[in-house]
Amino acid sequence: MSSLPASSRPGHKVLLGISAGIAAYKSAMLARLLKQAGCEVRVVMTEGAQAFITPLTLQALTGEPVRTSLLDPEAEAGMGHIELARWADTILIAPATADLMARLAAGMADDLLTTLCLASQSRKVMAPAMNQAMWSHPATQRNAARLAEDGWRLLGPASGDQACGDVGPGRMLEPEAILEALLALFQAPEAAGLAVTITAGPTREPLDPVRYLSNHSSGKMGYALAEAAAELGARVTLISGPVSLPCPAGVERLEVETAVEMHEAAQRLAPESDLFIGCAAVADYRAESAAEHKIKKVEGEEELVLRLVKNPDIIAAVAALPTEHRPLVVGFAAETRDLATYARDKLARKGLDMIVANDVSREGLGFGSDHNAALLLWRSGDGGVDQESLDPQPKREMAGAVIRRALACLARPPSR
Ligand code: C5P
Repeated sequence: MSSLPASSRPGHKVLLGISAGIAAYKSAMLARLLKQAGCEVRVVMTEGAQAFITPLTLQALTGEPVRTSLLDPEAEAGMGHIELARWADTILIAPATADLMARLAAGMADDLLTTLCLASQSRKVMAPAMNQAMWSHPATQRNAARLAEDGWRLLGPASGDQACGDVGPGRMLEPEAILEALLALFQAPEAAGLAVTITAGPTREPLDPVRYLSNHSSGKMGYALAEAAAELGARVTLISGPVSLPCPAGVERLEVETAVEMHEAAQRLAPESDLFIGCAAVADYRAESAAEHKIKKVEGEEELVLRLVKNPDIIAAVAALPTEHRPLVVGFAAETRDLATYARDKLARKGLDMIVANDVSREGLGFGSDHNAALLLWRSGDGGVDQESLDPQPKREMAGAVIRRALACLARPPSR
């Protein structure tokens, strides 16, 4: 049995989803552990799950009726499915089968559990469980990555003996381990009430009415940070260069084009912010003056000279605000070598509190990709610099780690 505190988050509402895997027999123990930890628990089972464990067992353990169907007029008359979706603080699916993962990754709503997942804005966690070959299959791996991008937290699977006789990855984590991971998530720092401003995407510097200087930034990392901060309850404003991403739920977006526009917006918003994250790929230079009319090719002239002037360093200007108006400032550094050395230098030179250094020479990571790896460096309380290395992971997960670290820095008395 778990040695965790009896009531670490009283009243936390957990909707336990159970799908059709043999590990479903362990869900009974999980329901019991959740109750013992002080959570309110309601159970939804897929049709197939009921072949492995009966709704009655879960009803007896939770003291609540178990829902199994979307089209049950009696149950809908009690607590409708949308109401149930709103009720949950967390949806925890254990076990999550390959089939359920595929349906969720595709955004389907073809039974009660998948419908609730689509309708709910709660925290979403799943513990996959399946045969090792099914887990390793590229389709399942693709679905797992998609679900992580969509904000699902995947716990496990563990590796070991399987009910089917195979050995390998695919075992559901033990109920105690699932509970422990869940409680750690509940205890993550909250950002309720904090004002967070994030710059994201590229800037576009006009040369004439039809041409501009820009870069390949997709904005994905900045948008993932905005989503992660909003999920923790922060009031988030995204100052975004031109990207093709939808604005994350609950985030206010200010669309800008040039570095100067981004700088002006940052100067306006930063003094009102608790945390400022500069994630934009700002063009270092702009045309001294954009031509009023389209620049024409000139017969016989093989060269065109453009005169560029330096753009403001947006993040350095925020970091230089007077202390009473200065938020905690987090910057990014894209490097191809000597990550730690260059990042430390940038931290000091720009007067930042924290820096997220990416090695952009690593294939499949960084610019345009959905994945990233990074070295985080931040000023420690004693005037030194601490660091943490983040392994390659979906940008959405990395965003959560960056925000959590920034919140931990904010919670410390300022040493700057
Ligand atoms: O100097 P470098 O471009 O490598 O620094 C990257 C960091 O500085 C990022 O956080 C980026 O958003 C920020 N930056 C900025 N304004 C600039 C150039 C970079 O805010 N003009």
